[in-house]
Amino acid sequence: MVVLGIESTAHTASVGLVNDDATILAVASDMYRPVQGGIHPREAANHHVRVFPGLVERALRDAGVRAREIEAVAFAQGPGLGPCLRAGATVARTLSLLWDRPLVPVNHCVAHLEIARALSGLDDPLLLYTSGGNTQVIAYGGGRYRVLGETLDIGVGNFLDKLWIELGGTFPGGPALEAEAKQGAELLPLPYSVHGMDVAFSGILTAALAHRAKGAKRPDLAYSVETTSYAMLTEITERALAHRRKEAVVLGGGVACNERLRTMVREMAEGRGAAMYAPDRSVCVDNGAMIAWTGHLARGSGLAVPIEASGIQPRQRTDRVGAPWRKDPAPAQGS
Ligand code: ATP
Ligand code: FE2
Repeated sequence: MVVLGIESTAHTASVGLVNDDATILAVASDMYRPVQGGIHPREAANHHVRVFPGLVERALRDAGVRAREIEAVAFAQGPGLGPCLRAGATVARTLSLLWDRPLVPVNHCVAHLEIARALSGLDDPLLLYTSGGNTQVIAYGGGRYRVLGETLDIGVGNFLDKLWIELGGTFPGGPALEAEAKQGAELLPLPYSVHGMDVAFSGILTAALAHRAKGAKRPDLAYSVETTSYAMLTEITERALAHRRKEAVVLGGGVACNERLRTMVREMAEGRGAAMYAPDRSVCVDNGAMIAWTGHLARGSGLAVPIEASGIQPRQRTDRVGAPWRKDPAPAQGS
């Protein structure tokens, strides 16, 4: 079954095609880049409306797939920016009607995780999901994904983007800060904010800007911010691994592109005898293939919605949607 997926939750409009074994047949993406500041939702949505027809054509051409071979159309229903989600949902509804194929809504966060899980070959890993809007440690249990820990304020990616813009850069900040951090040498003191399995970033942002006002160098700031925030993420991941007795961790979301975060989590996991997997960077960032693959799983469980029930859900949470394609693992010995 070939499934087409539409991603449009925030900055990236993307169309992906996958087949039965999660082989990515094609991905065609176009990212909205604000001239200055953060994402303007309506401008981003206008961008998506403009590029989607070309992206659908390109994805089909690159995959060498004809429209009649597509068996389902999946789209990201939420969470995300309302105008952006609406643009993608409209494209998905149109294709579903045009081709007379089932329409399958997908949760964007679950999609980041499912594509990473499929590519890792790991059956039941713990998931560290770090992206622009989200920062969550997740494990499957009882029919859905459960959030064990998360950010108490902003997502780690939004935090990095905000900091970089305040330092005079442009969106996205994560990759630029990563390059800058490589030149850093001095570790500046920043608030280390871990609360059980939760984290918070806004205190680090304030403290980093205060360092800057006192003349701290940008590379040192970038290095210190990465060290502190990724250590926090590594700590909550380790706590969750220990409590859930998991033997593997998988990374997903745009911040999982970061080499230091990957290395820190890998070293922690290997130190405990656990496996760690992070997908290729092109799969970590928003892409249509992850929506297509999760749509494939959902469709395989019989999920589809009529047009009138396909409304977007900008605040849809990871733990409010079912994952009926997952099976409950046998309980661990002694638990
Ligand atoms: P969400 O999944 O919460 O909706 P998102 O849609 O904003 O997030 P993603 O593409 O998953 O988007 O992630 C984008 C984020 O990843 C941005 O905040 C960006 O700065 C960050 N990012 C990308 N590459 C890197 C990197 N190398 N290091 C750190 N952060 C990065
Ligand atoms: Fe994302």
